[in-house]
Amino acid sequence: MRHNRYSVGRETKHSPIAKVLLLGRSEVEELLNMGEALNAVERSFSLKAEGRVLMPPKLYLDLPEYHGDFRAMPAYIEGSAGLKWVSVYPGNLKRNLLSVVATIILCDPDSGYPLAIMDGTYITDMRTGAAGGVAVKYLARRDSSIIGMIGAGKQARTQLLAISEVLPGIKEVKVFDQYRDAALRYAQEMRVNLNLNIRPAETIEEAAEADIVVTTTPSRTPIVKKHHIKPGTHINAIGADAKGKQELESDLLRGGKIIVDEIEQASHSGEINVPLCEGLIKVEEIYGTLGEVVVGTKKGRESDAEITIFDSTGLAIQDIICAKLVYEKCRGSDVPAFELF
Ligand SMILES: NC(=O)c1ccc[n+]([C@@H]2O[C@H](COP(=O)([O-])OP(=O)(O)OC[C@H]3O[C@@H](n4cnc5c(N)ncnc54)[C@H](O)[C@@H]3O)[C@@H](O)[C@H]2O)c1
Repeated sequence: MRHNRYSVGRETKHSPIAKVLLLGRSEVEELLNMGEALNAVERSFSLKAEGRVLMPPKLYLDLPEYHGDFRAMPAYIEGSAGLKWVSVYPGNLKRNLLSVVATIILCDPDSGYPLAIMDGTYITDMRTGAAGGVAVKYLARRDSSIIGMIGAGKQARTQLLAISEVLPGIKEVKVFDQYRDAALRYAQEMRVNLNLNIRPAETIEEAAEADIVVTTTPSRTPIVKKHHIKPGTHINAIGADAKGKQELESDLLRGGKIIVDEIEQASHSGEINVPLCEGLIKVEEIYGTLGEVVVGTKKGRESDAEITIFDSTGLAIQDIICAKLVYEKCRGSDVPAFELF
C-alpha cells in the first residue's frame, strides 16, 4: 500500500482505508441475483417505513439541450452510505447505447472514505425490478396469471424476472412496444430465460387487458387509459421518474388505490407528478407507501375488484443496500482495488 498522510497506519473495520474496490458490470452481475435483490429491496422498504434510513430527495441536473438528465441519489442504510450518479438519455436507444447509465460510490460512514466504486446500471435494473416484485407480492391478486408489459426495454426485463419469482402460475405474458421489433426481441429472449408463454401484443389495449400491467416507457403523454384496465388489476407504473413524465391517464389514477415508493419523490417526479400539478388528484388521495404495506401499518389489497397502482420512482436506499450486498460478497476476493488518495 502506498503510504501517504491519509493511509499511514490507519484501517477501518472494512478495509485498508485508502484501498477502493473497482467493480465492473460483469463482477456486479455475478454477485447479485434477483432473489437477493428482492430480499434487500423489501428490507429497504421496511427500514424506510420505520424511519431507520436517511435519503434526501434526488437532485436533478436537467440538460434539455442534450435531451437527457443526470440525478444524484445519496442514501444511508444499515451502516453504509453512498451515492448513485445516474443519467437518463431516452434517445440513446437510437445510438445503440443504454438509456440509463449509473455509477455507485459506496462509502464507510465511520471514516467517510470510499470503499467501492461500481457499475450502478445493473443494480438500477435489478433493484427496480425487485421493487416491482415486492409491489406484486403485496398488492396483486394471488390468482393473477396474465401479465401485460408496456415497453420492452431494460426495465421490462427485470420487472418480469422479479414478478416470475414472486408469482407462481403465470399463464401468459403479452408485451407491447412502440417498436414491434423490440417487443419481438423481448418475447424471444424472455421466453428462453424464464420459460414463460410470451407473445407480442398489437396494441396497448391488448397488452393492458391483464391481471398485472407493467409500464416501463419514458412517455410524457398518458398511454394507458382508464378504459383499458379491468377491475382487480394491479399496475406497476415504473417509467415516470422525472418531472413531466406520465404513462397512466389521470382518470385511471383517480379511480385506483395509489401506493408510492416515497411520497415526496413521487409527487415531484413519479406517475402522480403531472395530475398533482394539474390539480386532478390531491396528495391526500395517495393511499400510502409500499413500505407501510410491507411493515403492516397499512393494508395492501383489500378486495379482488380494486385497482392497485404502484408508483415507482426508484429509491437511493435500494441502490445502496444492493451495492453493500455486492461489496460484502467480494471483500477479500481478488477484485481489483486501487489507491485513490
Ligand atoms: N422507477 C424507477 O425506479 C426507474 C428505474 C429505471 C428507469 N426508470 C424509467 O423507466 C423508463 C424505461 O427505462 P428503460 O431502462 O427500460 O429504458 P429502455 O430505453 O431500455 O426501454 C424503454 C422502452 O419503451 C419503449 N417506448 C418508449 N415510448 C413508448 C410508447 N409511447 N409506447 C410504447 N413503448 C414505448 C421504447 O421503444 C423502449 O423499448 C424510463 O423512463 C426510465 O427513466 C424508472
